[in-house]
Amino acid sequence: MITTMKSALLLLGVLALTACKKEGSATEKDALYPTAVGANAAESTDPVKMIAQGKALFEGKGTCNSCHLADKKVIGPSIKEITKIYDEHQASIVTFLQGEGEAIVDPSQFPIMQANFSITKKMSEHELRAIEAYMRSF
Ligand code: HEC
Repeated sequence: MITTMKSALLLLGVLALTACKKEGSATEKDALYPTAVGANAAESTDPVKMIAQGKALFEGKGTCNSCHLADKKVIGPSIKEITKIYDEHQASIVTFLQGEGEAIVDPSQFPIMQANFSITKKMSEHELRAIEAYMRSF
C-alpha cells in the first residue's frame, strides 16, 4: 500500500517536472505555488495590482469617481490636482481618508468630502493604499 502511494507520488513528481520543463519558468512557478499566489493577490504590494485594486475601489465601493475625475473638476477637485497638492505638502492620502488628516486642497468644501469617511474608515489600510496608488497613477 505504502509502496504504491510512494510510487504514485514519485510518478506525479516526475510528471510535474516534465510539465514544467515543457511550459517554461512562469508556469512552473504558478504550478508549484498556486495557493500562495492566490492568497497574496488581495494584499499584493505589486504596484500594478495595487493600482488595479485602487481603481476598482475608487469606481466601486468608494463611488469616488462620482465626484472626482482625472483632470477636470466636477463636484470635487480633479485627481491630478489632489495628488499635486499632496505631493507639495508631502501629505498622505491614506491618513486623510482615515479621518486623521486635514483638508489641504479645498477646505471650504470639506463637509462634502467628509461624508465619505463613513465609507473610507471601514476600508483596510491596504485598500486605502491601493486607492492612493491609483490616484497617483495619473
Ligand atoms: C459627493 C462628492 C464626493 C465623493 C463621493 C468623494 N469626494 Fe473626495 N472630495 C470632494 C470634495 C467636494 C472635495 C474638496 C474638499 C476637500 O478638499 O476636502 C474632496 C476632496 C478630496 C481629497 C482632498 C482632501 C484635502 O486634503 O483637501 C481627497 C484625497 C479625496 N477627496 C478623495 C476621495 C476618495 C478616495 C473618495 C472615494 C472614497 C472621494 N474623495 C469621494 C467630494 C467628494
